[in-house]
Amino acid sequence: MSALQRPEPRPGVVDIEAYVPGKSTAPGIAQVFKLSSNETPLGPSPKAIAAYQAVARHLEDYPDGAASDLREAIGRSFGLDPDRIVCGAGSDDLLNLLARAYLTDGDEAIHTTHGFLVYPIATLGCGAKPVVAPETNYTADVDAILARVTARTRIVFLANPNNPTGTYVPFDEVKRLHRALPAHVLLVLDAAYAEYVSRNDYESGIELVATSENVVMCRTFSKIHGLAALRLGWLYGPAHVVDAVNRIRGPFNVNTAAMRAGIAAIEDAAHVERSQAYNEQWRAWLTAEIGKLGLDMTPSVANFVLIHFPTTKGRTAQDADAFLTARGLILRRVAAYKLPNALRMSVGSEQANRLVVKALAEFLGRPA
Ligand SMILES: Cc1ncc(COP(=O)(O)O)c(C=O)c1O
Repeated sequence: MSALQRPEPRPGVVDIEAYVPGKSTAPGIAQVFKLSSNETPLGPSPKAIAAYQAVARHLEDYPDGAASDLREAIGRSFGLDPDRIVCGAGSDDLLNLLARAYLTDGDEAIHTTHGFLVYPIATLGCGAKPVVAPETNYTADVDAILARVTARTRIVFLANPNNPTGTYVPFDEVKRLHRALPAHVLLVLDAAYAEYVSRNDYESGIELVATSENVVMCRTFSKIHGLAALRLGWLYGPAHVVDAVNRIRGPFNVNTAAMRAGIAAIEDAAHVERSQAYNEQWRAWLTAEIGKLGLDMTPSVANFVLIHFPTTKGRTAQDADAFLTARGLILRRVAAYKLPNALRMSVGSEQANRLVVKALAEFLGRPA
């Protein structure tokens, strides 16, 4: 007989600081601009909305558990073998499945100081230990990651570009990281924001997955495809990793509406291009205009910007957050990402972007 007085979760679970999503409301404010979760201001392709609506006629049917049509559509779009793709209920689902498949009690998984919070959550949930590698200039540092590899390391999680910093690791550096990792360590390249990057030295990781046995790339439909509400993501990996994940995923982990909308979204290349161009224009505008106000901006390649605030009383990130929220402008506090003096802002609609710059100018007591 156990001496426990009640069921206890496995070690690690109670150490998890639960993920707190970006706020979506401002008390008492009628018009709210949500710029806290990196959603696209352009919304999904109208074709994806139509495909989603058509599913309503047959809600009684189970989804295709193999997500065959969707995997084929993704395969066509990226030139990939559909058998090497697994779909999930958001990339969160896939990140957790990878952790469950590869981590056990006492193992270690490395992520970087300001890395996406799902990595330590998924790691602790498996009874494993998250190991933090410091960043340089808010950017993942390959040498710092390699210095933390031990005999217990099983996964390296790298968001590229990273959320919430918006920085990226050039592909040469990713390849250097991979070359130096022991063969039994799985390198998880989380490319949730890949579509927004327009740098010649960036690659999402497809080539590396195709040519190695220990690299996986995760992607999402939540960002550029504007389908966050439907929860849809996918991974591309070596056959043996795909096999492991398929064994433990829920048999119907992706719903039909997500699959149908996802196929329409990925086939609407013009919508994706519009979103890329829009983001490019407004990210540059926000970086320049907020910079002119005297606030430091971390150069971003994604669809959000990281704004640093002074620690002077009345001018802090917390003060700015309260000031903006009172005006219906909801940015993301990133203290949980070890960035207590910064706010993250998603590139929003033109109206929202202009309102934030104007409000920040007012907050800082400067003419915009
Ligand atoms: C780096 C990164 N990876 C994964 C995700 C999760 O996306 P999904 O909505 O597909 O679960 C996010 C969402 O914010 C993210 O920023």
